[in-house]
Amino acid sequence: EIGGLRFAVADLDLAESGRLQIQLAEHEMPGLMALRAEHAAAQPLRGARIAGSLHMTVQTAVLIETLAALGAEVRWVSCNIFSTQDEAAAAVVVGPDGTPGKPTGTSVFAWKGETLEEYWWCTRQLFDFGDGRGPDLLVDDGGDATLLVHLGAEYETAGGVPEPEPGDHEERRQILRLLADSLAEDDRRFTRIAAGLRGVSEETTNGVARLYKLAREGRLLFPAINVNDSVTKSKFDNKYGIRHSLPDGLNRATDVMLGGKVAVVCGYGDVGKGAAEALRGQGARVVITEIDPINALQAAMDGFQVARLEQVVADGHIFVTATGGTGAIGVEHLARMRHNAIVGNVGHFDTEIDLAGLAAHPGVTKTEIKPQVHQWTFADGHAVLVLSEGRLFNLGNATGHPSFVMSASFANQVLAQIELFTQPDRYQDAVYRLPKHLDEKVARLHLDALGVQLTELSAEQAEYLGVEIEGPYKAEHYRY
Ligand code: NAI
Repeated sequence: EIGGLRFAVADLDLAESGRLQIQLAEHEMPGLMALRAEHAAAQPLRGARIAGSLHMTVQTAVLIETLAALGAEVRWVSCNIFSTQDEAAAAVVVGPDGTPGKPTGTSVFAWKGETLEEYWWCTRQLFDFGDGRGPDLLVDDGGDATLLVHLGAEYETAGGVPEPEPGDHEERRQILRLLADSLAEDDRRFTRIAAGLRGVSEETTNGVARLYKLAREGRLLFPAINVNDSVTKSKFDNKYGIRHSLPDGLNRATDVMLGGKVAVVCGYGDVGKGAAEALRGQGARVVITEIDPINALQAAMDGFQVARLEQVVADGHIFVTATGGTGAIGVEHLARMRHNAIVGNVGHFDTEIDLAGLAAHPGVTKTEIKPQVHQWTFADGHAVLVLSEGRLFNLGNATGHPSFVMSASFANQVLAQIELFTQPDRYQDAVYRLPKHLDEKVARLHLDALGVQLTELSAEQAEYLGVEIEGPYKAEHYRY
């Protein structure tokens, strides 16, 4: 804590470098900068306390400072132990006008390479705005902050936290420990936090899936806006973002030649499509695995071989998971791969590659080549290279998606936060999407920067199509 500002970052002296990178990013984030200009005077987030759990990168720094510029008091953590850019975290704490000795920015609790225990400690700091005040709003990515509030409130009502079970993932053990400590200190903390929340805006596919599940089970405690399924989010960030950051992660991790290699992509959703396109663009021969006949057919008609992992596991040089699910690559697959095959995941959680099974495999050893690159050697001498310990390697081994595409994602986040804060009566404890006119607005904000000249409908054409000249142009069921 310095001068009343609480934070935990790697090194405040990195702030100057972070600030210069933020300034470059601002130039590439026209959507966020336009929203800042549009709302500077009205300050629609004045008085809002916003707690964010989303990769603490340079691009996120521009989001945080946009929320602050619209009047919000912000606290932030990363939603992944490896994804923080330490210079961005330092710059956000120091703030545009502060110095490392006198930081005047935002409370950030994040550094690259947290342990899981530190990760959950940071997440807990999110909820304490001082003087017993909690947040009004959450920005979440993957749903960990939302999950913590829900489990906390449920265990408080039940009057106790269950003991971890023998098969529990380390992540769950950490959450249960944290909630047990919290309950011992204050038996209504998360119940009060949940009651005070006007809502959450959720960034990614996995987090949104968790929200719909809570809503289906009647357990959702506050309104939620699904930002991921804005068209200008998932059809851009998930696809074009990964098209950029996936080869970046592979290159920085291994610098292996991609051309000519066999690359297997598990999952042909939005992220898988961008991944496959990038790898093909580098001259790799790409094979897709899918469980959904529609996506499998899409992959085939896009010209990719679609196979079962067992059929291609011995041929692949590179394996990427993008399923959002669990167990896409099992230890039996890892054991059959060729020597030094590269294995990495870009789905949100580290559940897609069975690394626990790998660690328990008889005779296997692990060598750190460099941080976030590990060579796992089997008893027979052959090895696989695992990136970012099975967590999002486009963020762990590189710096995530580039600014321009994150501007579209984060413009949706800002609009969702304004909506939840200023129109609380519109929203029940359910999951919503932003209206289409706002989706189109986000796209519009990014056209000038690319020199796009949009054609305008005539009155007659609009009448024929049955739409307004100024939009929205498509029905809700339209799929883009
Ligand atoms: P999606 O639902 O569009 O695609 C996932 C695809 O995987 C689906 O088509 C599904 O049928 C398929 N699938 C599921 N289980 C499978 C299995 N065992 N084997 C083969 N295919 C399987 O989801 P989206 O939007 O593509 O997201 C995928 C993951 O990436 C999510 O975890 C999401 O949160 C994450 N994400 C990561 C980003 C990053 O920067 N790394 C950016 C955006 C999303």
